[in-house]
Order: sequence, then structure tokens, then C-alpha cells
Amino acid sequence: MHVDVFTLIPESMQAYLDASILGKAQEAGLINVELHNIRDYTKDKHRTTDDVPYGGGGGMVMKPEPLFDAVHTVLGEAIAAVPVILLTPQGRLLTHAIAHQLASLPRLALICGRYEGIDERVRQHLATDEISIGDYVLTGGELPALVLIDAVARQINGVLGDAGATERDSHAAGLLEHPHYTRPATFQGWKVPEVLLSGDHARIARWRREQSLLRTLQRRPDMLQGTELTDDERSLLADASREDREP
Ligand code: ADE
Repeated sequence: MHVDVFTLIPESMQAYLDASILGKAQEAGLINVELHNIRDYTKDKHRTTDDVPYGGGGGMVMKPEPLFDAVHTVLGEAIAAVPVILLTPQGRLLTHAIAHQLASLPRLALICGRYEGIDERVRQHLATDEISIGDYVLTGGELPALVLIDAVARQINGVLGDAGATERDSHAAGLLEHPHYTRPATFQGWKVPEVLLSGDHARIARWRREQSLLRTLQRRPDMLQGTELTDDERSLLADASREDREP
């Protein structure tokens, strides 16, 4: 996959992209992230990327020309086939399902906003999609772009060493993950659950599924709406809900 990122502060993103799993994925040619500085596409002496808002009011607005120029120059003819995603708190909320769908595409373009806002014509006539990473406002779209790239990259075949890892993910199965433990078996007096030491794989799988269900019930009951459950699982959750309500 090739990802073109349009930003005013490419240096803020490079270190994260080069580190660890994303860095290795790029070295292996599984994903290629190219950072483009929007300022390189300005034409005036001062390399201006923002201006005062029409209608007055505080704050500055990102100008449309450098962004249109940058995206059209970099994408060229490909622009018709490549999603141009604007990172904005007004976008649709990023989910595992959206990341999964984007991971199947050969190329993406991401626009990171800065300042108070971005000229509406970018939204209307350049971006083809708008994505938010949560209901809070950041100072720019760079961290959201990194979040999106990370969530997408780890779903590309070969990026994670362990092929089953993405299927086991929290959210992939519509449930939160079960607890994890590693050695030592006892740490400061706290013991690893006995079942995990038993070597009985069927029992372990059952325990993990139960923990996953109970944890989801406790923390994100909304996620259980779309989950297929066996009769046993339904009664497990019903019992747990009852216990929760009892004083
Ligand atoms: N830019 C600023 N805040 C953002 C958010 N929550 N999601 C995506 N882009 C943003």
C-alpha cells in the first residue's frame, strides 16, 4: 500500500513511522508512507498556507490553493481512483471495520488540517472522505493520520509477525480481548489464573471467551449488540448482569 500524507509539519510524523512495526513494514515494502509538505506547494514569497476567515472572527483558515496543488501534483491521474481522506473531528468515527476496509486498497491520500479550520472547498471538492479519531479536538490532523496509518497497516498481510493477531484483536470479533499473562506465574503474590497453566487448550479457549464476554459486558455493553452468542453465553451474561445489579 502507498500512503501520501499532506501536512505542514512532516517532521512531527517521521520518527513514529520509522520505528518498530511500521518501520519494518516499510523496509519490507508492505507499506510505503510518503510525507508531503503543503508549504512546498505555495507560490508566494512568504510561503503562506493560511489566511483570515471571510466574515471575520478569530483564528486562521488553511488556504485551498496549496492543498489542491499538492494533492493534484502528487496524485496526478490517480486522483480519480484514490480516496482523499481529510482528518477532522467532523468526520465519521474511525473503527476497526473502516481500518480493515481501507487496508484492502492499494493507495490512500491523507490531508492533515492545522489552524482553526480548513477552507470548505477542500472538504467539498478535494476530499472524498472525512475521518475523526474521536470526539475531542486536537491541534492538527497529524496524530489522527498516524493513528489511521497504524490501524490500517497492522491489518495488511505480513505486517504483524503473527498472522492470526488481527483476527484475535479486540474489536475484530466485536468483543474486547481477554486478559493476558506471561511469566512469572506469581508476581508480588499475584497469581496467574490456574486454568492458563493447565495445558488444557479447550478449557483455556473457553475461559478466554468467557473473560472476553464478561469484560465487554462490564466496559462496553454497546458492543454486545452485534455479537452472536450461544445459549450458554447468553446465560453467562444474564447471570453476570444480575450479580452486578444485586447489592
Ligand atoms: N483534527 C483535530 N482533531 C481531530 C480528531 N479528533 N480526529 C481527526 N482529526 C482531527
